[in-house]
Amino acid sequence: MPETPVLYVLNGPNLNLLGVREPEVYGHATLAEVQALCEQAADGVTVVFRQTNHEGELIDWVQEAREKASALVINAAGYTHTSVALLDALRTLTIPIVECHLSNPSARERYRHRSYISPVAAGVVSGFGPFSYELAVKA
Ligand code: DQA
Repeated sequence: MPETPVLYVLNGPNLNLLGVREPEVYGHATLAEVQALCEQAADGVTVVFRQTNHEGELIDWVQEAREKASALVINAAGYTHTSVALLDALRTLTIPIVECHLSNPSARERYRHRSYISPVAAGVVSGFGPFSYELAVKA
């Protein structure tokens, strides 16, 4: 655990397209704007904010968070609903994990109802657009 708290905010596939991707579902804010919101909400805590389209890279970053982070906010996007490997990586963490989504997956298609993240999350924030991230960071 680092001396000064570090919060990792990790983002999964397609979130780099925020703002242009299905804006009726995900809104108009870009990922850079979401990052700025997180940094503001973190109130002095160092934020490491990253996005990847690759499952293995996301897992590498979770393992890195195990060494370097005091807490983890994760929007695993599509991997939320598919990745046992990501769950296995998250299980190795002892720091608090907050699962975060812009939309509310439970109110959407059935295949989005199952989350592999929720069993290891201290809490879940979903459905509030970029404000979900702000709440997750505050939590
Ligand atoms: C998402 C919800 C997921 O179901 C979806 O695959 C995403 C984004 C969200 O933030 O609402 O890519 O995690």
